[in-house]
Amino acid sequence: MNYYLERKIFHLRSLGSYSDQNSEIPSKDEKGLLKLDSNENLQLPKSFIKKILGDAAESTDPRVYADGQREELIQLLGHHFNVDPDTLVIASGGDELIQGITSSLMTSNDTGVTIEPTYSMYRYLLKSFGRKRRMIRLSEDFSLDMESVRENLAGTDEVVFICSPNNPTGNQFPRDSIRELLESTKGFVVLDEAYADYAPESLVAMVNDYDNLLVLRTFSKAFGIAGMRIGFAITNSALAESIQKFAILPYPVSSYSMAVGSLILKNLDVVRRTISQVSETREKFVQELMQVRDVVVYPSVTNFVLIEIPELSSTFAYKMKQQGIKIRIVDWIANERNFVRITIPPIDQLKRVVRVFKEVLAQ
Ligand SMILES: Cc1ncc(COP(=O)(O)O)c(C=O)c1O
Repeated sequence: MNYYLERKIFHLRSLGSYSDQNSEIPSKDEKGLLKLDSNENLQLPKSFIKKILGDAAESTDPRVYADGQREELIQLLGHHFNVDPDTLVIASGGDELIQGITSSLMTSNDTGVTIEPTYSMYRYLLKSFGRKRRMIRLSEDFSLDMESVRENLAGTDEVVFICSPNNPTGNQFPRDSIRELLESTKGFVVLDEAYADYAPESLVAMVNDYDNLLVLRTFSKAFGIAGMRIGFAITNSALAESIQKFAILPYPVSSYSMAVGSLILKNLDVVRRTISQVSETREKFVQELMQVRDVVVYPSVTNFVLIEIPELSSTFAYKMKQQGIKIRIVDWIANERNFVRITIPPIDQLKRVVRVFKEVLAQ
């Protein structure tokens, strides 16, 4: 290999990967594991999924790039969110939007502001694209520290990434605080609402009041089709058009995926049932875990919970995996403390997950 390529490989490795950021336990065979590490919607009935996959196949011609699927999806999303379809951007997952914003909307003059602890993709991509970064820390109880927000914002050339409900803490920030944050910066705010379908409210309508706001959403969580890779954003129409054209690739989502996405939007009653199931199961799950000694469960309005445990997170996660349950290690939240994040299990798996959790901690 020539010296140039050796340097390039060295450079790529120095960026680290997203999974490095997440202290993932490497493993080749994940088959048969109960996946509680990525907050997917495992409650969506398999029979329903099978039906919509079949129906989408019927209406898709893969020989052409797209055949009206984008238009249909955009119209349905516009209707669902009560926004003009021109205010929407469609991408290959919310992650592609974060990538487009950090790589193309931002330039080397700009600073990315992250409110930590939060979704690690922001800091990973800001670092990958060599962007300047400023960090605001949440309070000890993971609420927004508005004094720190005011002190650390005000700049013009800044993009603030705020995730609400926040991953991995599970709480949603008050509407007035987000409003104040929007008014505290002369830059641009990305409000990541990947989990808002589980939460009491969404701030999508705020894009009408603030032209420096972009709300990011995804089909990967409550909408239940993470594997289809559809994310979208809602912002003012001028920005939406520019981001779609210049920050995202021409055909970011397959026509098949978009057809599946449209079928999800036409069957939202099924999705809504799973959302209620998640909140019922979450209450039971939290009640059970709170009774375990030295375990702290943080309040959540999402389909996951953050848990502080009295054992090294990586050891605990490893032992859970040995028992067939994959959870997320989030030990980077605070030094010398041990946190894990667990997706709310499907109701028929609740007893097993609680039992294994208790057994593993008692070992
Ligand atoms: C907070 C948050 N935002 C965005 C995403 C990206 O989701 P996707 O790229 O699957 O749409 C995730 C996925 O885990 C997430 O947790």
